[in-house]
Amino acid sequence: MDCTLGGGGHARLLLEHLGPDGRLLAIDRDAAAVAAARETLGRVEPAATLVQGNFADLAQIAQETGFERVNGVLFDLGLSSDQLEDPSRGFSFRLDGPLDMRMDVGAPVSAARVVNELPERELAALIRRLGEERWAVRIARFIAARRPLRTTRELAGAVEAAIPRGAWPPDIHPATRTFQALRMHVNDELGNLARGLEGALKILEPGGRVAVISFHSLEDGAVKRFFSQESKDCLCPPGQPVCTCGHRASLRVLTRKPVRPSAAELAANPRSRSARLRAAERI
Ligand SMILES: C[S@@+](CC[C@H](N)C(=O)[O-])C[C@H]1O[C@@H](n2cnc3c(N)ncnc32)[C@H](O)[C@@H]1O
Repeated sequence: MDCTLGGGGHARLLLEHLGPDGRLLAIDRDAAAVAAARETLGRVEPAATLVQGNFADLAQIAQETGFERVNGVLFDLGLSSDQLEDPSRGFSFRLDGPLDMRMDVGAPVSAARVVNELPERELAALIRRLGEERWAVRIARFIAARRPLRTTRELAGAVEAAIPRGAWPPDIHPATRTFQALRMHVNDELGNLARGLEGALKILEPGGRVAVISFHSLEDGAVKRFFSQESKDCLCPPGQPVCTCGHRASLRVLTRKPVRPSAAELAANPRSRSARLRAAERI
């Protein structure tokens, strides 16, 4: 199961490696990604089923499409290049577009609502937590003073003005962390990841594997904690003489440390620079 179909790169490789009876279920929240993958992957039925949906609901989607048990679940988190490079989606601070940032354009809350309607203090807390941005309070103040903001360039301009020039990060655009925080909030990315990992446990058959590629320390931390918790037989507080939780390990961690891109991969695909892969096997 490819939970993040995106441009279809992984799906294509998975299809190439399927055995004669193998089947692939690939999903994406973004209807445009699913439509584009139908074109680029060509005729994939009956080996593959492509579905627009949220991986938070993966167990249900799997059941509805006849994939009750699977032996692999892949998450390649974050944005696709297609989403980032389409100005009309509002993900990029380099391209001017509406403040949207919804992966699923049917979702109710866009970035414009968050930027223009969230109380300044809440906006600052969100930018600090999800963007790990130390200038969050000032950024929120500058945003609030310029409301209503309508475009990605207006938002990027507010962030650029809020961070003193000498403190601009050397290697990334000053608005990178703010955009990331808003995008993660608009799409509830951490909440969906937590539900997606739970769902993967439900549908993986013993010996099956779940692999997650993340691009953000909060995501990688969530995956690491989930794998570690689900690989333990008891979650009672240390020192408790008798186990009362009844928790049983359901995963074996395959990657003590996350796998990072090699030098060759970095040269061929610079966007992989912050990628971390973790994998675990269902017991
Ligand atoms: C990094 S891209 C995937 C690229 C893909 N692996 C490829 O080879 O082209 C991430 C994709 O995950 C999708 N996505 C993010 N969160 C999702 C969710 N909760 N449910 C389903 N798809 C999601 C995004 O819409 C995006 O298309």
